[in-house]
Amino acid sequence: MCGIIGIVNISEDVSEKLFKGLKLLEYRGYDSAGMAVINNGNLQIIKDKGKIDEIHEKYDFLTLSGRIGIAHTRWATHGAPDKVNAHPHIDCTGSIAVVHNGIIENFMDLKTELAEQGHKFRSRTDTEVVAHLIEENLKRGMDVEDAFVNAIRRLKGAYALAVISTASPDKIFCARVESPLVLGIREGEVYCSSDIPSLLLFTNKIAPLDNGEYAIISPNNVEIRRISDGSRVRKQFKKIDMGVEEAKKEGYPHYMLKEIFEQPYSIRYALNVQKNYLELMADFIDRSSRLFLVAAGTSYHAGLVGSYIFSKLARITGMPVIASEFVSRYGDSITVDDSILAISQSGETRDVLWAVEQAKMRGATILAIVNVLASTLTRVARIYLHQQSGPEIGVAATKTYTGQLTILYQLAFSLARKRGKLGQDEMDRFIEELNMLPDVIDMILKKCDREILEVANEIKDAKYVIFLGRGVNTGTAYEGRLKLMEISYIPSLAYPAGENKHGPISLIEKDVPVIGLVQDDETKKLMISNLHEVRSRGAKTYVISSSDDEEVREVSDVLIKVPRVSALFTPITYVVPLQLLAYHTSVLRGLDPDKPRNLAKSVTVI
Ligand code: G6P
Repeated sequence: MCGIIGIVNISEDVSEKLFKGLKLLEYRGYDSAGMAVINNGNLQIIKDKGKIDEIHEKYDFLTLSGRIGIAHTRWATHGAPDKVNAHPHIDCTGSIAVVHNGIIENFMDLKTELAEQGHKFRSRTDTEVVAHLIEENLKRGMDVEDAFVNAIRRLKGAYALAVISTASPDKIFCARVESPLVLGIREGEVYCSSDIPSLLLFTNKIAPLDNGEYAIISPNNVEIRRISDGSRVRKQFKKIDMGVEEAKKEGYPHYMLKEIFEQPYSIRYALNVQKNYLELMADFIDRSSRLFLVAAGTSYHAGLVGSYIFSKLARITGMPVIASEFVSRYGDSITVDDSILAISQSGETRDVLWAVEQAKMRGATILAIVNVLASTLTRVARIYLHQQSGPEIGVAATKTYTGQLTILYQLAFSLARKRGKLGQDEMDRFIEELNMLPDVIDMILKKCDREILEVANEIKDAKYVIFLGRGVNTGTAYEGRLKLMEISYIPSLAYPAGENKHGPISLIEKDVPVIGLVQDDETKKLMISNLHEVRSRGAKTYVISSSDDEEVREVSDVLIKVPRVSALFTPITYVVPLQLLAYHTSVLRGLDPDKPRNLAKSVTVI
């Protein structure tokens, strides 16, 4: 997974713009980066391993001068993150440069064939074959466009590509299969990039390239065609009303903290979901014989919480499935009567898209909850709901998680209404409470931040941390665990607290931090007894609860009290202190919570 950007201008240098755009794409990968421009008919390249700023400091990207260029920020898939494997990749003659996001599945076959024809490979990447394929085609007498199209027709897998060649020094050749690519235009300058925000610095006139399309862009022209048959595609560039400022830190030390504190707003936006689509989606779910909630990472936890809510409110069984397991587990049994509700912030997670494609082939109805508009998932889904959380830059998902939950609650209400499972009074009360959540989250953020900082100080050197939840907060425990583990690197466990006695309790020893989630529902007594179990064996308990009665206090070494809401909504209120805990622990350990090692915001590989 990577970010790519290309700019071609009629008269000005593009390296500074490429650098700025690339910085905004850094969330897509940051183990190496590079830039290539054409200057006086020569290709000039700077690339290395490391973060964009580190490479810039070492070489200065702005020393590259040229009116056309491409750049890349990488998250390694094939080949270690080092200078040789960093993009752009070039052909033998050093006149063609390629940047790529995705995976070329048949690259080994192509590499063998090209090597037999005498091509010399420098890197271990799948991408380099593209440069050599184009070179080979040029050698055979094709012009650059034909050489490019002929080359990409031979590729199997997923790619967003941008190519420049000294043989055609005012054109960028780009293409998209699966991996995202958008185009932007302004007077005398044209762009391609992996996402919209990186282009908003320069223009708000944007058009996404659709799957299977390629484009040839030059300073005053954009030509889009289908890869399969070369037929022309007409596309409208639309004005996007979103500021780049939205994607900046606004005074917070990290994007993650900014995004945690944005939740009162992002939840409010999610409450504004388009009601007609919500109803339509509920109709499809209501008509289907089985419902699968398919997602990865944090989004899977949203699906897990969703399955409890759907059951409690609408008496619907929704099976939460980790996307990468979906095909082996249910692929063969999917029928036209099933619905898949795919939940994906980015709408680009390959595991999710794979599950969805397979289910679609078997006739299932594909529904989706997404944050990124024009993402691949929005195109494959019959109906999608846009959670409108705004760009999330921190790799660890925070506001998009509570946004997903907010949509799932509304969907559950709509289903409950359709199926007559909730009385009007109860429904009105719940909806009123849901609408109050932004204010409640605001209160939690104001009240809990300092308290949580103290807890973070206590657990920051722990060998491991255990999270316990039950019922609706089983997913919250998993999410708290994931957050802490991914950004503080403290090994952590989470499980439904009932499983304690079936194994994990053997890990409890003196002072092991146990984070317990206690909500006021049928699980409360059992959860309290689980906390007694661990406490009597020496664990130090940190309890998050909206109750502070005697029973709860008795099992809490530290009690983080959050404002009271119905137990049903505690997955939203309880996760906020857990996000803060992960954040502060990471910072106290001297880490960068926005850029956890080895992880990326959107994983577009299987
Ligand atoms: C990556 C990210 C996670 C995210 C997961 C699913 O692993 O690091 O934060 O939850 O992908 O992403 P999606 O875009 O499908 O929600």
